[in-house]
Amino acid sequence: MTHRILILGGTTEARQLAGKLAHRKDFSVTLSLAGRTESPMAQGVPVRTGGFGGADGLAAYLRGEHVDLLIDATHPYAARISANAAKAARQADVPILALRRPGWEPVAGDRWTLVDSVAEAVEALGTAPRRVFLAIGRQEAGAFEAAPQHRYLIRSVDPVDPALAVPDAQYLLARGPFAEADERALLEKYRIDAVVSKNSGGAATHGKIVAARALGIEVVMIRRPTLPDVPSAETVDALAGVVDHLFDPVAERGV
Ligand SMILES: NC(=O)c1ccc[n+]([C@@H]2O[C@H](COP(=O)([O-])OP(=O)(O)OC[C@H]3O[C@@H](n4cnc5c(N)ncnc54)[C@H](OP(=O)(O)O)[C@@H]3O)[C@@H](O)[C@H]2O)c1
Repeated sequence: MTHRILILGGTTEARQLAGKLAHRKDFSVTLSLAGRTESPMAQGVPVRTGGFGGADGLAAYLRGEHVDLLIDATHPYAARISANAAKAARQADVPILALRRPGWEPVAGDRWTLVDSVAEAVEALGTAPRRVFLAIGRQEAGAFEAAPQHRYLIRSVDPVDPALAVPDAQYLLARGPFAEADERALLEKYRIDAVVSKNSGGAATHGKIVAARALGIEVVMIRRPTLPDVPSAETVDALAGVVDHLFDPVAERGV
């Protein structure tokens, strides 16, 4: 019996999870991407791309494709798709699991200013001109046009288009993971005095946080959005274990 699994992705962990589950011959795994990134990494399993048309659209997809399990492995700040996933799973009566990578916790030496939104992060930078490293992705970078007094270094996977309407912005195109030593060199080279970050968790983008700590630089940390309460695991291995257990071939044979 083949079990059809749909993974909502767009993260490194989603790709890794897909690869892991695809080893099981009785699993048919499809990965779903929003289609934001121009040339996404090879994912190793069949991929479908683009929005579903809200929770109703996703529920229709789950029914139409006879999906047996939905896995939400999207980014912790992708709150809309996570909410849609929980709702669609209920509507279509399909089990749902989520991969929820834990956030980073501040430690001694960190200078974090916690805010609840990108707009609050803009405010938190203050009125005096600063050298700001924006590491929040390109989608919301535009909000910083409201604070044109700062000099910005903006890093994203795809170009920020249109460029920010501010007098001083430099752009870096790069895809993680980022090593701590390289992050430190970057902060020093551009004489950064404030980093704006999401609390993404995980190792791939943690280097800038550690580097900022070492250099005594403030981090304006945007808190995570609230996500729906669905059964979840924190790591790829733990989630793969739950899935294996759910579709245990021995139990299914009735042994
Ligand atoms: N937000 C971030 O900081 C961040 C960082 C790294 C990666 N990502 C990844 O980028 C993607 C989009 O993020 P976002 O912040 O725009 O999400 P979002 O605000 O929660 O989602 C907006 C809409 O995009 C579509 N969508 C999002 N993820 C999808 C997926 N995996 N497959 C199919 N459709 C998807 C859905 O459209 P419909 O309603 O039409 O279905 C959703 O309503 C996610 O897959 C996320 O994992 C996000």
